[in-house]
Amino acid sequence: MKYYVLTLFPEMIEQGLGVSILGRAQAQGAIELKAINIRDFSENKHGHVDDYPYGGGAGMVMQPGPVYRACRAVETEIGHRPRVLYMTPQGRVFDQRFAEELAAEEELVFLCGHYEGIDERILEMEVTDYVSAGDYVLTGGELPAMMMIDCISRLVPGVLSNTQSAEEESFSGNLLEYPQYTRPEEFMGKRVPEVLLSGHHANIEKWRREQSIRRTFERRPDLLAKAELTEKEKKYVERLKTEEVSP
Ligand code: ADE
Repeated sequence: MKYYVLTLFPEMIEQGLGVSILGRAQAQGAIELKAINIRDFSENKHGHVDDYPYGGGAGMVMQPGPVYRACRAVETEIGHRPRVLYMTPQGRVFDQRFAEELAAEEELVFLCGHYEGIDERILEMEVTDYVSAGDYVLTGGELPAMMMIDCISRLVPGVLSNTQSAEEESFSGNLLEYPQYTRPEEFMGKRVPEVLLSGHHANIEKWRREQSIRRTFERRPDLLAKAELTEKEKKYVERLKTEEVSP
């Protein structure tokens, strides 16, 4: 997977994604990341890339020219027209399913706006997908782009090691992950659940599945409605509703 991020703050992208698992994935070549400074494509002698909005109003708008030239440079490098994702609260809200769809691409271009946004004409020309991080407003598209790159990269072969399975975690099957514990066995009077110390794998699996269902029921009942449950598990949910089940 090759990511291109068009931004006014390339150092934010490089530094934010240059450490930990994604830093290693870049070093090993499982993913490639190019942060491209839109300002480098300014033809203004002061390097300006924004101007006042036509019609008046607060703030500045990013001009179409530098964004156009930055997009052309990326397209020339790739050799075809890539998927161009514009980060905006007006877009399709990003989720695990969307991440899976995007992980199938060879290249992804993230276009990050700042100030009051980008001139509409260049968005009409270049953008294939309008994508939102959620129903709230940020100061720019960089954090959403970083968040999405992190999420998509976990699904790219070679990024996670075999022991860090991408599948068995929250949202696969619309269930949240079960709670995790490590040493010590007792911490400030609180013990690790006994079943996890038993070495009985079938019982551990059953307990974890129940914990996932309970947790989803308590924290994200909207997801539980979409989860695939066995008849027995559906009965467990019914018992949770009447609070007959102890933790
Ligand atoms: N830019 C500002 N707010 C945003 C959001 N919620 N999602 C994506 N891009 C944004």
